[in-house]
This record gives sequence, C-alpha cells and structure tokens, in this order.
Amino acid sequence: MPDGMSFEAGAAAPLNYLTGLFALVRRARALAGETLLVHGAAGGVGTAAVQLGKALGLRTIAVAGDEAKREFALRCGADHAVLSHGRQGDGRPGDGWLAAVRDLVGERAVDIVLDPVGSDRMTDSLRSLAPEGRLLVLGFAGGEIPVVKVNRLLLGNTGVLGVASREFFERHPALVAELWGQLLELRQTGALADPPVEAYPFADARGALRAISDRRALGKVVLSRTGRAGSGRSSCRAPPGAGHDDHSPATPTYDHHSHLCGVT
Ligand SMILES: NC(=O)c1ccc[n+]([C@@H]2O[C@H](COP(=O)([O-])OP(=O)(O)OC[C@H]3O[C@@H](n4cnc5c(N)ncnc54)[C@H](OP(=O)(O)O)[C@@H]3O)[C@@H](O)[C@H]2O)c1
Repeated sequence: MPDGMSFEAGAAAPLNYLTGLFALVRRARALAGETLLVHGAAGGVGTAAVQLGKALGLRTIAVAGDEAKREFALRCGADHAVLSHGRQGDGRPGDGWLAAVRDLVGERAVDIVLDPVGSDRMTDSLRSLAPEGRLLVLGFAGGEIPVVKVNRLLLGNTGVLGVASREFFERHPALVAELWGQLLELRQTGALADPPVEAYPFADARGALRAISDRRALGKVVLSRTGRAGSGRSSCRAPPGAGHDDHSPATPTYDHHSHLCGVT
C-alpha cells in the first residue's frame, strides 16, 4: 500500500481498480480520446471505471439510477452523467439513458461500454456503440443475464467482450503486479484519486450489506475498525484538472508479447 492511502481505500482498491484497468486497457484496448460509457457508475466497479476512464484520457459518460448517484459520478470525474431511466432536468418521464446519451454525443458515438449491470441495458448499449465499439460484460447486478442478437454486432462492426479479472489473474499472476504498479503510478501523478468508500464498523456488517442490497451505496462499501454505524458516506474527489471534457494525457498501452498493459 502506498504512503498516504487509508486502510479503507486500500481495501477498496485491488478488486475494482485492477478489474477496471484490466477491462479498459487489456480487454477493450482503450485509446486516449475515446468515449467510454459506464453503467452502474456510482457502484464499486462503476466508480473505479469512471475514475480510471478519466485518468486514461477517455471522455467518460456515467449512467446512474438517481440524482444523488449522478452527482456523485460527476464528482468522481465523469465528463457527463445521465439517469438510467431518462433525460435530465425536464421533470417528465424520460426516454431512457440512450436518448440522453445521444443528445450529448450523437448517434452511435460511444467507443466502449463498461457494463456491470446487465439486465435490460444490453440492446441499447449496442445501439450506442460507434463502429468498432466494444461492450465489456463485467457482471449482472441487475439480476438478469441479457441475450445478444449477433446480427447487431455484424451490422455495427462491434464486439461484446467478457471480463473476468480473477480468472485471468490466476492464469497470469504477473499481470496483477504490473497493473498494481500502473495504478500507483496514476495515483502518484495525480491522475487517479483514491477510491471513495462507504465505511461501516464490523459490528454493523448487516447495515453495510443492506446498503448494497437496497442500492443506496456510493462507491465501495468496506468494513472498518473506525467506521461509524450507518454513516461513512463516500465522498469523491476528481483529480486536479478533471472536469467536463478535460482529458488527462495518460495513454493506455498493451504489449502483445508480455500480455502486460500499462499507461504512458
Ligand atoms: N468481471 C469482473 O472481473 C468483476 C469484478 C468485480 C465485480 N464484478 C461484478 O460487477 C457487478 C457490480 O459490482 P459492484 O461492486 O459495482 O456492485 P455495487 O457497488 O452494488 O454496484 C452495482 C450497481 O448496479 C446498479 N444496479 C442496477 N440494477 C440493480 C439492481 N437490480 N440491484 C442492484 N444494483 C443494481 C446500481 O446502480 P444504479 O442504482 O445507479 O443503477 C449499483 O450501483 C457484480 O455483479 C460483481 O460481481 C465483476
């Protein structure tokens, strides 16, 4: 663990941030300047993806379930954030997140979708993709495993990619150390802030689990010796210079021989 990182942030970092870097750099081969859309953007995986997307120089759009989560994603560095159920600010039922995203970036303009939610997101996610866009499947927090009509991939020259970090890291342990080194480097340069955590005391593990299952959690939920019951709300801080359409210069790289990825 690096100097100055809290134990709570240290507990939150490995799984979601190594997974996020693996997903974006290794699986999607993200290039600085591409557009990234993140579902469940205020959750544990989603927050990591938003922060990493920003650190890697991607234009990042967050999709979140309510206004508090939408604002949280913006504070974590998303360039834009839309509600999963509609347009923002007009007070009327929306047309869904896809319409809001089209308003922001245009039709078929998303290069990478990172999806830890599944369920009904898949078809509209594919509709949002630019030619040669990639949809990363990370999980199914929404409960349903979606089905892909592969003609959509053929016609759009797009792809759906699975991301299972634990399974991959078990086969390629050297990659874990390499990715951790890249994370620390991004942190040291100020491109990546520490993970926002919602800390609960061990005695209130039930409350922590309830926050996750009620879909109230912001960022990563951790159990901590110093956490206070039912409090410990996450605060997110974008790195210096982050903000609307302000891209960091970090460039993701991938070495086909060593199977290692990184940032320059
Ligand atoms: N593939 C991998 O390598 C890998 C690694 C780590 C985790 N995962 C998986 O990724 C998924 C998300 O993990 P996480 O830690 O980000 O979870 P989390 O912190 O609970 O966040 C999940 C997000 O999904 C959204 N969501 C939409 N429908 C939901 C529903 N019916 N119930 C609960 N959440 C719902 C919520 O956002 P809104 O309310 O804003 O919609 C929530 O913030 C899990 O399935 C986990 O197993 C995969």
